[in-house]
Amino acid sequence: MAEYDLVIRGGTVVTAADKTACDVGVKDGKVVALADKLGPGAEEIDATGKLVLPGGIDSHCHIDQPSSMGATTADDFHSGTVSAACGGTTCIIPFAAQHRGQSLRAVVQDYHSRAEGKAVLDYAFHLIISDPTEQVLGQELPALIKAGYTSFKIYMTYDALKLDDRQVLDVLATARREGAMVMVHAENHDVISWLSDRLHEAGHVAPKFHAVAHAAAAEREATHRAITMSEIVDVPLLIVHVSGKEAIDHIRTAQARGLRLYAETCPQYLFLTADDLDKPGFEGAKMMCSPPPRDAANQEFVWNGLTTGVFEVFSSDHAPYRFDDPEGKKMHGENAPFKKVANGVPGLEIRMPMLFSEGVRTGRLDIHDFVALCSTNAAKLYGLYPQKGTIAVGADADIAIWDPDKEVTVSVDMLHDNMDYTPYEGRRVTGWPVITLSRGEVVWRDGKVTAEPGRGRFLPCALPDAAKPLGRPVHGFQPVTGDYTP
Ligand code: URP
Ligand code: ZN
Ligand code: ZN
Repeated sequence: MAEYDLVIRGGTVVTAADKTACDVGVKDGKVVALADKLGPGAEEIDATGKLVLPGGIDSHCHIDQPSSMGATTADDFHSGTVSAACGGTTCIIPFAAQHRGQSLRAVVQDYHSRAEGKAVLDYAFHLIISDPTEQVLGQELPALIKAGYTSFKIYMTYDALKLDDRQVLDVLATARREGAMVMVHAENHDVISWLSDRLHEAGHVAPKFHAVAHAAAAEREATHRAITMSEIVDVPLLIVHVSGKEAIDHIRTAQARGLRLYAETCPQYLFLTADDLDKPGFEGAKMMCSPPPRDAANQEFVWNGLTTGVFEVFSSDHAPYRFDDPEGKKMHGENAPFKKVANGVPGLEIRMPMLFSEGVRTGRLDIHDFVALCSTNAAKLYGLYPQKGTIAVGADADIAIWDPDKEVTVSVDMLHDNMDYTPYEGRRVTGWPVITLSRGEVVWRDGKVTAEPGRGRFLPCALPDAAKPLGRPVHGFQPVTGDYTP
């Protein structure tokens, strides 16, 4: 008689904190035992020689999300979650994106209908707030936060999404009052748009000029401004997709001052440079994202930030626009000026293997930090821990059984997203999951996807501890309550 639904035998279980050679017993989708030589399971997996890791959480990806520029993302909730699973991710947190004039509640309903019946992995939603009206901040948002949408992204750039500083302050104050986590896209809009216009006037319209317009200084300035505003409101803040030294310096300084300031980076800032945008013809458009990849020296700063704790999360920022799709990168035709090209690169499936290969295998990154950056910290930051993000008794059995020696050559043909290119074509990677389990169910094994569309469930998020204010108002004035203590 089987004691467990599933036993994973003989592997090395690695969490953000521990490494233990033990079996994992699973019942009703949960981890129920971690011990040597567990009794029989109805199903058994031999993990000898493998690492048994918490499945990844990709907490920044754009799935079935119409872009603010009108382009269409290539992945829906089926292809997106399948691709994620094949790279060891077991949970995604994409965005329910408000466009101006839309009710947030209606936006959330719309994204649920996009996910239901399709997702093979569990998912939560961040909100994107582009229209912070009194109704949105006073009524819709508080109700949605209570219903489990406890994080939201705001933008300091993009014509259709950007908030001015006053609106940013209003959103931060709402987050402080309600206990939610704010993520910010920090680039100075006017600098980018002024530089873009000057470049266009001078005929510099090729993809490589995207990286010139989106100057590191524009990211640095907006990062500093965002940090300043979070300090004034006394609320934690997470800076997403940080590209290099200039922003990192400000983040590190703020963290050293004791602010609750979190940061995220992504594969494109480790594995691409601005030179990749300078490809013949329109090819460079494939690598266009915002902020853009910088240079080799900045890649080193990003690695350093990962190994020294500046970054809390490593997400993909998967924003997949096909190259040959008239609704993708070529929405405005072949050789469209860079201002009119959709921003974003794919990365859901390669996120963990490439960080493992170039980080853990090279000895730059500790395996526990790898787990924390790819899974545990996101669960904590966004209110999913300990259901997700770890292997512990009571947690969901979301597990990647990882072959640390498996050699893979990345190519568009072996990936499972719905893209017609990968920025990482031809890269040699060592270390890839051989089995991915979601709530104890095998969803990917030895190159085969075994999950039924629609098995993924929506995850309401708790209010994260990480979003709690320091209680250290600037100059004694508490802008949310109006209290003043000199
Ligand atoms: O270029 C990018 N990152 N596109 C996706 C949208 C965003 O700002 O994250
Ligand atoms: Zn962004
Ligand atoms: Zn993004």
